[in-house]
Amino acid sequence: MKTVLITGCSSGFGLETARYFLEREWKVVATMRTPRQDVLPASENLRVIALDVTDAASIREAIAASGPIDVLVNNAGIGVLNALEGVSMDTAREVFETNTLGTIAMTQAVLPQFRQRKSGVIVNVTSSVTLRPLPLLSIYTGSKAAVNAFTESLALELEQFGVRVRLVLPGRSPSTSFGANARTRMKDGFPEPYAAMGQGIFAAVQDSSSAVTYAEDVAEAVWRAATDPGSPMRIPAGADAVAAAATQQFSQ
Ligand SMILES: NC(=O)c1ccc[n+]([C@@H]2O[C@H](COP(=O)([O-])OP(=O)(O)OC[C@H]3O[C@@H](n4cnc5c(N)ncnc54)[C@H](OP(=O)(O)O)[C@@H]3O)[C@@H](O)[C@H]2O)c1
Repeated sequence: MKTVLITGCSSGFGLETARYFLEREWKVVATMRTPRQDVLPASENLRVIALDVTDAASIREAIAASGPIDVLVNNAGIGVLNALEGVSMDTAREVFETNTLGTIAMTQAVLPQFRQRKSGVIVNVTSSVTLRPLPLLSIYTGSKAAVNAFTESLALELEQFGVRVRLVLPGRSPSTSFGANARTRMKDGFPEPYAAMGQGIFAAVQDSSSAVTYAEDVAEAVWRAATDPGSPMRIPAGADAVAAAATQQFSQ
């Protein structure tokens, strides 16, 4: 029986991905900043472990407590939507610490065991905004595009050890806690010269009439990345992400 460790399982894509792997008879190490047993079905294959991906000691303890794992899913992430002029450097650092450096630190932490066993898969969850840029998301998009580039380079150096690395790029998903979490970093509103643009983009990202991504789309894409050695490096998840990826291929 294989084991997957997933970051950010308290809600949204991480929670659904944990459920998806449990239903398929995998051992799941569901990690959360504040561990809660009650968000997932009780199962002897489930362990819930505390993990903050921005904290080196927390990473060390979580990896030690997990035992050997076969797949790491770097899903934990935070967002911010604002003009660059409206984002403090503290917030920019927080976003990169979590989305970019958190992914890098977790990957470093599992690599020795993967390399020694000559097997293992790392799945990094980024975003379709790296395929089709939107205004007011420069910090978030930068943090995720860096993970795309990091992953594609790393894949080449790990191939010799039988370790696979993949990207899952979800589209916009209003049904997760992502928007509400991001709003905590947007308390000061848009700087006045960007206010009209801000209201327009804010309405667009909350629009429920166009194609969106569901948590199950992401779980399926992560499953494919984890279990199918023939899967492509970049796997869009959700109808809107699939459309964005197709447009990008067409324009290249
Ligand atoms: N929803 C979208 O529209 C969308 C679109 C494309 C990509 N994504 C990406 O998909 C991933 C999952 O997002 P989601 O939509 O499922 O949002 P979500 O419901 O807000 O889930 C994000 C998870 O990340 C966790 N997290 C945040 N900071 C963390 C840290 N320092 N250490 C460990 N865990 C941390 C959160 O835990 P807490 O409960 O402790 O805060 C939460 O469990 C993110 O990487 C996001 O950037 C989302």
